[in-house]
Amino acid sequence: MSFTKVKGTYDVLPAESPKWQALENYIRNLYGLYQYKEIRTPMMEYSQVIHRESEDSDMVTKETYNFKDKSDRDLTLRPEGTAGVIRSYVENKIYATSNLSKFYYIGPNFRYERPQKGRFRQFMQFGIEALGSTDASVDAEVITLAYETISKLGLKNAVVKINSLGDQASKSNYREALKAYLAPLKHKLSPDSQLRLEKNPLRILDSKDPVDQELLLNAPMPLEHLTEESMKHYQMLVELLSSLHIPYELDKKLVRGLDYYSHTVFEIHATIDGFGAQNALGGGGRYHELVKEMGGPEIPGIGFAFGMERLLNALEAEGITLSQEQRLDAYLINFGNETKKEAFKSLYELRNSCIHAEMDFSNKNFKTQLKDAIKLNAKYVIIFGDDELKLGQVTVKNTETQEQSTIAIKELVAYMKGFLS
Ligand code: HAM
Repeated sequence: MSFTKVKGTYDVLPAESPKWQALENYIRNLYGLYQYKEIRTPMMEYSQVIHRESEDSDMVTKETYNFKDKSDRDLTLRPEGTAGVIRSYVENKIYATSNLSKFYYIGPNFRYERPQKGRFRQFMQFGIEALGSTDASVDAEVITLAYETISKLGLKNAVVKINSLGDQASKSNYREALKAYLAPLKHKLSPDSQLRLEKNPLRILDSKDPVDQELLLNAPMPLEHLTEESMKHYQMLVELLSSLHIPYELDKKLVRGLDYYSHTVFEIHATIDGFGAQNALGGGGRYHELVKEMGGPEIPGIGFAFGMERLLNALEAEGITLSQEQRLDAYLINFGNETKKEAFKSLYELRNSCIHAEMDFSNKNFKTQLKDAIKLNAKYVIIFGDDELKLGQVTVKNTETQEQSTIAIKELVAYMKGFLS
């Protein structure tokens, strides 16, 4: 029997975790600046929160992890963040206390997909949801924040693609137009698209099948079927984005992989060599039915999510480093019993004064401890030698300049603080 990680998952080892922490800190700061507040919802939900009648996407129907708990309840591991946030928004009646609620979240999600580069079965997303307004300025803020997320990181080869599906009337106008156009071509469509033609024709626009793609070349597009009001909303959005010089491209075929969207949809793509087909770093859009579906009032929302693994891949591909090495100010070298006891006490006192310190716990010889200290990038080594200890002293040595001095143990914390301030 071998013990391995579950297929499609990965470990973040200590050498890698600083860049995750740096990305998370960056998100918290940036989203805080835009007045989004963090919400943390459970990783598992009752299945009906995820498996809603209106949601027929592959992600929900084919890719979720579903199981029963010991009391025979149907539970699902969340495949995305939005549904749980809306469930919590309704359950906690947050709408009653605020007319525009702005949330951000960071956490793991689960999809039973075929693993490949940038595609996992457990993956991390961060995202936002803004609930309570249909105004195009909220769409503009959300897309601006998605754009800022990548541009402030320094990613150059990323682009925002937008489209509008319009309101329910626009969507059903379009559905009919697309069906009418594709009906005579049905026999040429891929088997998947043939199935979708009746039930969910919009999803055909997403098909990767080259024959489907070709058949779609002259197909009607959602933007051409917007009601007057939906068109106005879209035009206001692009006007606002242009006023901030946010670069975007209209992608007339963009429909996204979930069924809850209406009006604005958007994606952030990275054109990065060797990145494979999974090049959407993030995506989102408006949803106007979700709050009601989960038992709340009629409240609209808009949001997005980014995949953190893909974003970190993209940063690496563009040579952008986020992380700082974890800092180590001092490494305490000791030689066994008495010196170890003294070093152990000093270690505690140094740490209490916010000095990042470590010591040797395993009685290695001097040379090896010195090597360890260098490997850990310690700025100073503090040597607790037997002879010095008798005089109540230690030697402090700068690992870079090699300068060293002997000081009284009781002065050590103040002395180190002086160095490091
Ligand atoms: P999504 O497009 O399904 O949207 O996922 C958003 C991002 O999560 C993707 O662009 C991708 O970077 C990442 N992602 C998705 N699946 C995987 C996977 N298997 N492995 C690694 N990364 C993955 C949503 O999830 C919506 N909830 C976004 C949203 C928020 N719409 C409105 N509000």
